[in-house]
Amino acid sequence: MATEGDIKRGGIVASVRCGPCHHLNSNYMKVGPGLLGIYGKKPSISGVPFDVWDDDALQAWLINPRQIKANTRMLLPAMSEHDRNDIIAWLKARVVNQ
Ligand code: HEC
Repeated sequence: MATEGDIKRGGIVASVRCGPCHHLNSNYMKVGPGLLGIYGKKPSISGVPFDVWDDDALQAWLINPRQIKANTRMLLPAMSEHDRNDIIAWLKARVVNQ
């Protein structure tokens, strides 16, 4: 599944939708783990069936975390495909120290 997203818009949407629970500019824990450089990394959380946070894994996770991991504490209100694609494009653009 190819993701074509708007990086700049993705950053804004991420601040609103992910910022309350995640640090976006560090790896420090907030409610969930920090998201800096998460794209392309191995999940740090347990109970998800992914080897790496790539487009497909992030799409599935952001569509419905509960469907991937029944007891996850990540509660994410439904989001449009447009928002998802932009957030993933933004996460991808922020890969560091790979
Ligand atoms: C209500 C709080 C909340 C919101 C909002 C939220 N998350 Fe999370 N997120 C969490 C928690 C808690 C975890 C850890 C889940 C677990 O261990 O099951 C998590 C885990 C993750 C992980 C796995 C991180 C890792 O190190 O493996 C990713 C990726 C992620 N969230 C992305 C996002 C994105 C992108 C958004 C915004 C669209 C978002 N989250 C919104 C709470 C939240």
